[in-house]
Amino acid sequence: MSEKIESEKTNHLQKKLVLGITGGIAAYKCADLVRRLKERGFEVRVVMTVSAAKFITPVTLQAVSGYPVHQDLFDAEMEASMGHIELARWADYILVAPATANTISKLVHGKADNLLTTLILASRASLLVAPAMNQQMWANTVTQNNIRVLESSEVIILGPEEGEQACGDLGAGRMMEPVDIANQLLMLVNKRNILANKKVVITAGPTVEAIDPVRYISNHSSGKMGFALARAARLEGAEVELVSGPVALCEPAGVNMTRVTSAAEMLEVVKQKIKNADIFIGCAAVADYTPVEVASQKIKKNQELMNIQLKKNSDILTWVASQEGRPYVVGFAAESQNIKEFARKKLENKKLDLICANDISCQNMGFNSENNQLFLIDCCGVEKQLSVASKIVLAQQVIQEIELRMKTD
Ligand code: PMT
Repeated sequence: MSEKIESEKTNHLQKKLVLGITGGIAAYKCADLVRRLKERGFEVRVVMTVSAAKFITPVTLQAVSGYPVHQDLFDAEMEASMGHIELARWADYILVAPATANTISKLVHGKADNLLTTLILASRASLLVAPAMNQQMWANTVTQNNIRVLESSEVIILGPEEGEQACGDLGAGRMMEPVDIANQLLMLVNKRNILANKKVVITAGPTVEAIDPVRYISNHSSGKMGFALARAARLEGAEVELVSGPVALCEPAGVNMTRVTSAAEMLEVVKQKIKNADIFIGCAAVADYTPVEVASQKIKKNQELMNIQLKKNSDILTWVASQEGRPYVVGFAAESQNIKEFARKKLENKKLDLICANDISCQNMGFNSENNQLFLIDCCGVEKQLSVASKIVLAQQVIQEIELRMKTD
């Protein structure tokens, strides 16, 4: 894995990043976060609030970052070595992780009541915020409004993710995993706005086909690959329409997202969104079949054998590719054998410009995993293997590959 990360490093000059840690339980993950950032070529200086120091010690962060940790606005010794204004000027990026609801609110109101908030006000660095809090605090209208204000001021919001929380609650509010935060930062550093003025429509996640009011047919798609593509396209300046089946992921910042359930609904939304699109990426694991009839009442389990008649769903990719003035059409192929051969057939049959094949028989790749490995084949027969990496990194590579091909078309 460290070899992989080496190759993920860019040849840019070392970027300077201030990591601002605020007082949430996720602060304990910051030692790992610093390590991941350094692996990706960032020089990291840590600033902590008083509350953050209750969750992780400054000594730990000093050890992993290799620099003294800044805590107090009025620390004469620190100010003598690198004062807060100097630190504000030094930084290319300021990342607040975890960012509590309290600190987010202070950022919205321009408060400067501790070293971190003062530094942020005094800096021109790009600001990124990774919220982490109880799900109810995150869902609170006040917090949501604060997040919108930050987004409208060009602050990049990373996460939060859904899942079990330290307090026992379940829902959105967990800090994004350190490796994902570090990868997002790397993408930001590498971005070249290659999709400025382009509209991209992306499908993601599974579709859910109802059998009766309680049962359905679906698959294990988590939406992670499609959401990563949406983020990557957005970061490269595109207007992004994300059409997603039911997943437990939050709407990526700056992306217009429509949640759907069935394949038929997904097709209808794609038909609406595809107008004037430059690129269409079909990453959703669309159910191939749907029940002919949906029972209006729960089906009783009084038979030993049961037959459910299924009919084929319309193919969304094929529909998009058959439109006059079609966008650049990219498909995915989830294969468990003869990967290249089956992917090539899908590329031809569906008349795609590019197909990204993933081997779903490999452990920890493909469906519902953080990592993936993609084999690309385009309509000119050019093939390219993208090696194992996080879906976030792969998404960025796929976006670059698309842009390269659109340029030469
Ligand atoms: O969501 P994750 O957990 O991150 O997992 C990612 C993924 C494995 C789902 C993704 O990388 C992937 O491979 N998506 C396509 C899965 C799939 O349905 O493959 P397929 O070979 O059955 O379909 C081929 C292509 O046709 C796909 O682009 C699919 O979106 C599209 N299709 C399929 C059927 C249909 N009715 N309409 C379609 O548009």
